[in-house]
Amino acid sequence: MNNGGPSREPMLPRVYQFPPGFLWGASTSSHQVEGNNRWNDWWEYERRGQLPHASGDACRHYELFERDFDLARSWGHNAHRFSIEWSRLEPEEGKWDADARDHYRRVFRALAERGLEPVVTLHHFTNPAWFARRGGWSRGDSPRLFARYAEYVAREIGAPVRYWLTINEPTVYVTQGFVTGEWPPCLRGAWTHAVRTMRNLARAHVEAYAALHRSRDGIQVGFAHSAPVIEPCHPGRRLDRAVASVRDFLLNEAFFRLIGARSRAGTRSQGALDFIGINYYTRNIVRAGFGLGALVGRQCRSDHHDFGPLSTMGWELYPEGMVATLERFSSYGLPLMITENGIATEDEALRRRFLLQHVAAAGEAIARGVNLVGYLHWSLIDNFEWALGTAPKFGLAAVDYSTQERTARPCVADFARICRENGVSDG
Ligand code: FCB
Repeated sequence: MNNGGPSREPMLPRVYQFPPGFLWGASTSSHQVEGNNRWNDWWEYERRGQLPHASGDACRHYELFERDFDLARSWGHNAHRFSIEWSRLEPEEGKWDADARDHYRRVFRALAERGLEPVVTLHHFTNPAWFARRGGWSRGDSPRLFARYAEYVAREIGAPVRYWLTINEPTVYVTQGFVTGEWPPCLRGAWTHAVRTMRNLARAHVEAYAALHRSRDGIQVGFAHSAPVIEPCHPGRRLDRAVASVRDFLLNEAFFRLIGARSRAGTRSQGALDFIGINYYTRNIVRAGFGLGALVGRQCRSDHHDFGPLSTMGWELYPEGMVATLERFSSYGLPLMITENGIATEDEALRRRFLLQHVAAAGEAIARGVNLVGYLHWSLIDNFEWALGTAPKFGLAAVDYSTQERTARPCVADFARICRENGVSDG
């Protein structure tokens, strides 16, 4: 019915074409998929019953990696992010395991044979048990030990690798291990340890950055940054604004400062950083609180925020935040790569919506001038989600843990089309 008003143009879906050579793929991490990582700190805590779940066989990816990479190739991916398990390569201090080295050489070969560009993480939350026992990242010599491992990988693994991520989500590692105490070393409110660990992780990144560049030419070294959007509950309340900005500084800026990276519009950052891995999932709305969270605020769940749909982790679907995040971090003047983005859900329509909206958001950021070089979805397959065990379902493929069978989820077809067309339409 015509209501007499001006006739509206139908909204045409926007089509985003991505730059040539854009990397499309998915991410995993060693402890979450490999299975039987007996030489790391998580395994020890799991075995002693200090964590609610045990990783056990996980996805048996250590044996099944070729089949998993076949899936990625058949879905049109051209890149794959994974982590090398330090505790397998160096199960005892200073002793290097040739079988583990050969294993990872086979992994790199398998990726190359399938046309999957590797994006390698050197530290994804787990530490060798010997390293944890001697004091972990609290020790002043921890950065040197990490850089020695990084150099070993660069020298011994042989494969041509362009993108290296030293450390995955240093701020999450510190928060979970030393503030909430939910992950090893399970210390709650251990602020001194938290600060020392953060500093040593930063030094470790800088030393590994130098070691990798010494060993290899033409590489790009970064870290994977957990980048939540942080907003005050009541923007008009000074205290809410204050806790939001303290939290934002600690989670989104402090580590960059510690490694000497600086964001200044129009200039390339000079610090130990060649590109930035962005792990984007959601936003946190925070309000002033008391106790442990006083300084950084408490998450606000009030309905007045008109939250988008929630994942089974309780994380809000908020694709607008991806555009804002990419624009924000592009002020470092460095290439960005989405190294994680995904949703834990049992609702396949929601997963599909999440994927399409976030890829479109990545396209929008590029259209606004962001130098984005890849989109890697979390995760290739369902896996061991840390202290939550195997309940959260993040995979492009479901895993039946009793048979290790993988079953592609419906959105795989949408993502395959995106990868093959190097583009997406937001309608
Ligand atoms: C990120 C982690 C990754 C996975 C996802 C859901 O913080 O890097 O290992 O657990 O969250």
